[in-house]
Amino acid sequence: MSGNKKSQYDALFSGVIGQDYEMLNLISPLATEMSRLVGAAVAEYPVRSADKLKIVELGGGTGITTLSILTAKDKAVVISIDNEPTMQNQAKNHLKKWADEERLFFYSDDALTALENMATDSVDIVASAYTLHNFQNTYRQRVIGEIFRVLKPGGQLINGDRYALDDVSIHTRVVQREVEGYFKILTEANKLDLLEGWIIHILNDESEDHIMRESLSLNQLRDVGFSQVSLSHRMEANALVTAIKPAQ
Ligand SMILES: C[S@@+](CC[C@H](N)C(=O)[O-])C[C@H]1O[C@@H](n2cnc3c(N)ncnc32)[C@H](O)[C@@H]1O
Repeated sequence: MSGNKKSQYDALFSGVIGQDYEMLNLISPLATEMSRLVGAAVAEYPVRSADKLKIVELGGGTGITTLSILTAKDKAVVISIDNEPTMQNQAKNHLKKWADEERLFFYSDDALTALENMATDSVDIVASAYTLHNFQNTYRQRVIGEIFRVLKPGGQLINGDRYALDDVSIHTRVVQREVEGYFKILTEANKLDLLEGWIIHILNDESEDHIMRESLSLNQLRDVGFSQVSLSHRMEANALVTAIKPAQ
């Protein structure tokens, strides 16, 4: 994205999301960029009928990815799922305009329960950023099965997330540089409590029962039946993954 477009995008997001966006952009500009890429992928989804697209978002957090999805397609309804009320309440506050217009609905169940309560073949897109990597492997496996079930044939999964490099040594170096970056930025900003939180979180992300190793993750999607499974836009430990539920 050109510098000018990037600053327009940042201005829109700072305006709606406020400090949460600015702080994330400071600590992890790749994370805000990934939310933008999720929206860009949603914008490219081919519209096949006059009906509004039904988009399910997993882990809406403070609403950054949600806003990116909402601004990507006018004729879409977004169901944003997050089981952490302090996070979801911030999104409710930031994105009230879209909720009032009935373009955005919030579900407070955990992702698996919310998906289990949805009808088979009923959703056009399941979109998400930085949520699936938080799941334990066994829970994620079940969520992926449910995503496949609820998507309409031809529907798409779009996930911008931490995908670990297959080469463990290179991945370790990438994560070490990432941690160095957090120390530099957050000590300069004198935000040591935030630094502690990020370091603790990254240990969780990198643990064996959570890590999403690239090849394994893509094969996991193929194994449940997804086609056109693709990983793109790799930026250090982050990447965009898309996959299609085959049309019958
Ligand atoms: C790192 S935030 C990502 C927020 C936003 N998508 C972004 O990229 O800025 C992950 C969100 O997933 C939510 N989350 C974690 N586990 C969940 C689960 N099992 N079900 C629903 N939401 C979950 C958390 O509460 C958190 O708000």
